[in-house]
Amino acid sequence: MARPRVLSGIQPTADSFHLGNYLGAVRQWVTLQETHDAFYCVVDLHAITVPTEPAALRRRTRVAAAQLFAAGLDPERSTVFVQSHVREHAELAWILTCQTGMGEAARMTQFKDKSARYGESAASVGLFTYPILQAADILLYQADSVPVGADQKQHLELTRDLGQRFNHRFGDTFTIPEPYILKEVEKITDLQDPSAKMSKSSSSPAGILDVLEQPGPLRKKIMRAVTDTETEIRFDEENKPGISNLLRIQSALTGTPIPDLVARYAGQGYGTFKKEVAEAVVDAFAPIRERTEKLLGDEAELDRMLAVGAERARAVAGRTMAEVRDRVGFLPTS
Ligand code: TRP
Repeated sequence: MARPRVLSGIQPTADSFHLGNYLGAVRQWVTLQETHDAFYCVVDLHAITVPTEPAALRRRTRVAAAQLFAAGLDPERSTVFVQSHVREHAELAWILTCQTGMGEAARMTQFKDKSARYGESAASVGLFTYPILQAADILLYQADSVPVGADQKQHLELTRDLGQRFNHRFGDTFTIPEPYILKEVEKITDLQDPSAKMSKSSSSPAGILDVLEQPGPLRKKIMRAVTDTETEIRFDEENKPGISNLLRIQSALTGTPIPDLVARYAGQGYGTFKKEVAEAVVDAFAPIRERTEKLLGDEAELDRMLAVGAERARAVAGRTMAEVRDRVGFLPTS
């Protein structure tokens, strides 16, 4: 039997992935390629929903793709591609936009959060319709499941609704995908504000661990991570969010269960603990950074790898779109 298909996307909006992206998405994508027919895209069409410099977009798209390969996505097994290389994404997004109610789109909470940063009327219509483009990404590939963080649940619900609606109105066309919510334990918070998720829009660079960062600054940030005034190392999300976050990081990177770590550090100070967390982070990131730098050093080769991915993606997306076009009543092109 064919392997179930997964599809996921990541935005090229930073010059490096951070630890939250790595543990919460990228590393689990790598695992999924063992058991699934995997499609992963760098979603540059989504990136331009907010003001974006062309040169930065170009650089960040390559950096994102290089990190995906460097983290272990194997171009032989996984289809890694750039969203804008497959024109069908924008085309299907338009058709789905015409199946989406204004009220339905207006209920998407991420728009409210993101547009608050610009002022709602300054935000682009693209930011408003962002979840519909995401639905197109998923439905085009007939994905069975979509590995995403819990914050994407609402977008997945919309995707399912739009897929079902289309199937109902025009006939069975799309696989209705299941969300594959990535592990909660790997939710990583900001080092300077442990109540907030680690994210590029968070407190300050000091709160974020970047995959492509050098060992020195990585160690420094971890040593300076906000903890609490106690001395005991234990997992207590509510009273000790900083220590709990470091335990989660250490556990996720070394594979040692949190209770074993707590036992190991009994009677030890925060300093020793933090040093070991820092080593775990450096050990995980250094090889990825080195491979990323190598890939970025040969842009022609990286672009060629992405062209191969785009071609494979286009084959699938093209098949879906041919059916969609016919079902909605567009005339065949000659
Ligand atoms: N919206 C997702 C995020 O911010 C990124 C994304 C775009 C995505 N298209 C997708 C995720 C398709 C899964 C499937 O994380």
